[in-house]
Amino acid sequence: MERGAVQAMIQGMTRPGEDLRILGISGSPREIRSRTRKLLQWVLAGAAATGAETELVDLTSLRIEACTACESCSLTGQCVHTDGFPFLYERMADADGIVLGSPVYIDHVTGQMKVFIDRLADAIHYQTLSGKYRCAVATTWSSGGEEVVSYLNHVLNYLGILTLEGISVATGNDPDSAFGPEERSRNLGGMLTRAIRTREQFPAQSAVIRENRAFFARIVEQNRDWRPDEYAEWVRKGWIT
Ligand SMILES: Cc1cc2nc3c(=O)[nH]c(=O)nc-3n(C[C@H](O)[C@H](O)[C@H](O)COP(=O)(O)O)c2cc1C
Repeated sequence: MERGAVQAMIQGMTRPGEDLRILGISGSPREIRSRTRKLLQWVLAGAAATGAETELVDLTSLRIEACTACESCSLTGQCVHTDGFPFLYERMADADGIVLGSPVYIDHVTGQMKVFIDRLADAIHYQTLSGKYRCAVATTWSSGGEEVVSYLNHVLNYLGILTLEGISVATGNDPDSAFGPEERSRNLGGMLTRAIRTREQFPAQSAVIRENRAFFARIVEQNRDWRPDEYAEWVRKGWIT
């Protein structure tokens, strides 16, 4: 990918010179007009104020193809698509914290966000993003915001990522209402960097993550013959005994 194209995809990057990195991912197609993106920017600003390096990626700035269930990733670890997903996955892998944001579309995340989440299936099965921290934000006209935040938290627990509370805002017929919770969003960004620095523990979530991992261990064992390195890595980590 050309350098100029990469720069165009990374919005509002801050580099205060720290090694802690927080990545925001916005699922709104409205890009700079998006209220969800505004919430994300505030969370990132709160993280930057506590010393983190931050960046924001709009899913619509990347071409991410939908999963076709061809099972290539399961068999080889490689997806058949050549698109923007690896670019974003690498940034997720490099980040210490991830903030996901989606507007509510018919009681769920946007299609763009769901296509992206489906492409994380192999990362979920192999727990390749395990140990990171994250939080979620959503905006809605009137309803479904809390459900979307809760769904995003659930997905990221699947990835082995510990989640902080999220923020959902119902804008109703007052378009300025999404611009009220600035302080709450900034605080959430600060909480995220603190949780990462102190390796804050969330025992209930860790129990769920362990349970999920025991389930995914069966997949890793089944694929042992064609993905021996990953199997060995799971044994080394003590996730398969
Ligand atoms: C296709 C579509 C579906 C939507 N579905 C819902 C919905 O089910 N419930 C709701 O309260 N608002 C719904 N909305 C409104 C958006 O969630 C709301 O305007 C949101 O703040 C937009 O976020 P954005 O500015 O970040 O794009 C929908 C909007 C669109 C375009």
